[in-house]
Amino acid sequence: MATSPLASLISLALLFLPSLASGCYTRLFAFGDSLTDTGNFYHSIGDQPDPVARLPYGQTYFGRPTGRFSDGRVIVDFVAKAFGLPLTLPYLVGRTADDFKYGANFAVGGATALNNDYFRKRDVEPNWTEHSLDEQIRWFKQLLNMLATQSERDELMRNSLFLVGEIGGNDYNHLFIRSKTLDEVRAIVPDVADAIGAAVKELIQLGAKTLVIPGNFPIGCVPLYLRVYQSEKEEDYHPKTGCINWLNEFAEYHNRMIINKINSLKESYPNVTIIYADYYGASMNIFRDPVQFGFEVPLNACCGSDAPYNCTPSILCGSPGSSVCKDPSTYASWDGLHLTEASYKLVAEGILEGPYASPPLIKSCTNLQCGSDALKLPFSDPFSSI
Ligand SMILES: *[C@@H]1O[C@H](CO)[C@@H](O)[C@H](O)[C@H]1NC(C)=O
Ligand SMILES: *[C@@H]1O[C@H](CO)[C@@H](O)[C@H](O)[C@H]1NC(C)=O
Repeated sequence: MATSPLASLISLALLFLPSLASGCYTRLFAFGDSLTDTGNFYHSIGDQPDPVARLPYGQTYFGRPTGRFSDGRVIVDFVAKAFGLPLTLPYLVGRTADDFKYGANFAVGGATALNNDYFRKRDVEPNWTEHSLDEQIRWFKQLLNMLATQSERDELMRNSLFLVGEIGGNDYNHLFIRSKTLDEVRAIVPDVADAIGAAVKELIQLGAKTLVIPGNFPIGCVPLYLRVYQSEKEEDYHPKTGCINWLNEFAEYHNRMIINKINSLKESYPNVTIIYADYYGASMNIFRDPVQFGFEVPLNACCGSDAPYNCTPSILCGSPGSSVCKDPSTYASWDGLHLTEASYKLVAEGILEGPYASPPLIKSCTNLQCGSDALKLPFSDPFSSI
């Protein structure tokens, strides 16, 4: 059939009309641990006391605890906002298909990439959440069955953005706090990368077309690690940042494994967009030049207790005896383990706009044939889903 110029014009107009107004992705699904959790852990502990269920958690943005391990919003919140989506509802909080109209967040504080059996087999008794990455993927499948019939599924998957991580950091944290050696912790990195790769593969087989896989943060710049692994040896520290070299090298090792995994998935699935989000690079930028970003003491926790690093393992943020800094926006670290909203915002900008993701996430909608124009649309009310 020959196409008249008028017909082309009309189809061109249609292409840019209503579909674009709904933004780039229709849904955001997130998986991970406390860096991404927006309330699952909080919801899962019921009435059990936990610092995250109390102020000062949430004080900056929400004015109340929401289950985010920060003073305010976390990276996934800024990603949702950039795509004009409301804050992503924690899976354990929603009930109906309507609750998950814009996606769901499956991340749980304390979660690992490897499941608890893996640790039990290695004589590490897990005392953290059971909702490891494979369990989160099971949750997703249950939700998918509720949200879409078999024939609707392809479209839902194609139009959704998947943020798989950060996850894996806790697999190491749990071993480090049990005084495992660096070699013992290093030995599980390939298994962690495999577990993350397997989860990504499952999502792709379900029809996911755009996935973002973040790496780990530079844990050598994290106040709790700096405090626990304090050393007399000058050569343990980076001369400019003051971060612990061997811990950062470990995080980089994990990240290389993740990048390798992503590269092999890209080969297997050339039509799927799989993006590495370089949380390490984006946050190192802050530690290298903190003043540029308004951070005064980048290696100190805003909420905690005692020098050095204002981070005593027995008196963490929210425990009796801890205190909060006056202005969290001048601190990189919130509670000695997690970042402040101010830092999360910078990292989110680095992956949304580049250069810490390639392509930058706002240019990632190629599978949807729309571009970053969606970003210019008015944002949905961020409070509407809370
Ligand atoms: C879990 O066990 C470790 C090692 O014994 C301990 O340091 C940590 O405080 C425990 N965590 C919880 C939440 O009970
Ligand atoms: C990828 O897309 C191309 C062009 O649309 C298509 O010909 C090819 O079969 C697809 N490959 C896979 C592995 O789906």
